[in-house]
Amino acid sequence: MTTNNRANFGSKLGVILASAGSAVGLGNIWRFPYMTGEHGGAAFILVYLGCVLLFGAPIMMAEFLIGRRSQSNTARAYQKLAPGTPWRWVGRMGVLAGFLILSYYSVVAGWTLEYICAAGLGHFADKAPADFVNFYNSFVGHPWLPVVWAAVFLLITHLIVVKGVEKGIERSSKLMMPLLFILLLILAICSVLLPGAGQGIEFLLKPDFSKVDSNVLLSAMGQAFFSLSLGMGCLCTYASYFKPDTNLPKTAFSVAIIDTSVAILAGFIIFPAAFAVGIQPDQGPGLLFVTLPNVFQQAFGGVPFIAALLAVMFYILLALAALTSTISLHEVVTAYLHEEFNLTRSKAARLVTGGCLVLGMLCSLSLGLGKDYTLFGMTLFDLFDFVTAKLMLPLGGLFIALFTGWFLNKKIVREELTNRGTLHLRIYGLIIFLLKFVAPIGIAFVFINELKLL
Ligand code: PFF
Repeated sequence: MTTNNRANFGSKLGVILASAGSAVGLGNIWRFPYMTGEHGGAAFILVYLGCVLLFGAPIMMAEFLIGRRSQSNTARAYQKLAPGTPWRWVGRMGVLAGFLILSYYSVVAGWTLEYICAAGLGHFADKAPADFVNFYNSFVGHPWLPVVWAAVFLLITHLIVVKGVEKGIERSSKLMMPLLFILLLILAICSVLLPGAGQGIEFLLKPDFSKVDSNVLLSAMGQAFFSLSLGMGCLCTYASYFKPDTNLPKTAFSVAIIDTSVAILAGFIIFPAAFAVGIQPDQGPGLLFVTLPNVFQQAFGGVPFIAALLAVMFYILLALAALTSTISLHEVVTAYLHEEFNLTRSKAARLVTGGCLVLGMLCSLSLGLGKDYTLFGMTLFDLFDFVTAKLMLPLGGLFIALFTGWFLNKKIVREELTNRGTLHLRIYGLIIFLLKFVAPIGIAFVFINELKLL
C-alpha cells in the first residue's frame, strides 16, 4: 500500500529525539523514581541498567529492523515479513495495547496540567502534608475535572499527530526534548544543592546489594520494557519512517542511554529534595502527586515564589515527557487505521482520539464515582495498566525476540543491522545471542512470575 512514498523523518537528530521522546515519559519521571524508592535505591538502578543492556537494547534493535524492513505499520509489518503465519497477531496485539495504554496514560498526563495550574496559582503555598493527600484524592475522584484535562491532553496529541511525521512528530520532538533536558538539569541542580541533600545522593549512588532479591530483578525488567516503549510495536512504527542509512544499533543505544539518563536525573531531582526535608522516598505511586508538592513546599517554602516556580517547572517537565510519549502511542494506532482501512490520516487520528476519550473517561471515572465497579477485583484504570504493562508488553517483547532471533531470515536481520553490509558491527553475534536466548528466557521468567504461576 502506502510504501513507496512513505513519510520519513527528515534528519538523524529527528530520529533520535522522536524515538527518545517516545521512551522518555511518565515511566521515567513517575514510575522509575518510586520503584527505585521502593526497591532500595542504587542496587535497583544497577539491576535496571543490566536489564536495559541485556534485554532492552537488543529488542529495540529488533523492533527497529522489523519496522524499517517492512516500511509498514506494526500489524502489516509481520504480514509482510512472515506472510500467512500467525505472527501478524503480534502486531495486532501491539496496536490494541497502544490504544489501551493511550487511554489511561492520557488520564495521568492530564493530571500534570491540573498540577501546573494549581502550583502556578499558589494553591500549594502554606499547605500541611495532609492537605496534599486531600488535594490529590479530591481531584482524582472529581467526576469531570480530570476528564476535561485528559481531553485537553488528547487534543494536543491529536493536533500534533495529524500534522504528520516530519512536520508534527519530528518538529515537536525537536522543540520539546531540549526543553525537557534544560528543565531536568535546572531542577536537579536546585535539588542537589539543598542543605541535607547528601543522604538522597548517597541513596542513589551507594548500592546496598542485600536489597536485591528476585522481586527487584523482576520489577527492574518490567520497568525497562515500559520505559523503553518496547513490546507493542511503537518503535517499530517509528522505524518504518527511518531512512535506509539510519544506523539502527547506534540509534537504539542512543535512545537507551537518553532514556536511562533522564530516569536517573529524575531521581536526582526527587531523592535529594525528599531526604533534605526528611521525607522517606518509599511512598509508591503517590510519590509525584502527593509527596513531591509537599517536598517543594517544605524545601523552598521560605521563598513561596521559588517554591511555586520550581513546582510549575517540574509539572511542565512531566507534561512534556508525557506528550512525546502519547504522540508515539497515538501514531501506532493512527498509522494502522490509516494504512489498513484506507482512511485518511486525519480521519484515522479522529477515530483514535475519540475512542481514547471515551475509554479514558471511563478509566478516570473508575477512580472516583465508579470505584466500586470492579472487574477481576480491579478498577478499569488498574485493569488497563495490568493488562497492558504486565501482560501485553512482556508477551509482545517475548514474541519480537523469538521472531527476530529464530524465525526471520538471517540475511534480512544482518542486512538491516549492518545497513546492507556498509556498517561494521562487531557485536552482531552478541545481539543475536541475546535475542535468541537471553531475552526470551528472561522475559518468560518475568511473565510467569507476574501471573503468579510460580
Ligand atoms: N515509554 C513511555 C514512558 O516511559 O512513559 C510509555 C510508553 C510509551 C510505553 C509508548 C509504551 C509505548 F509504546
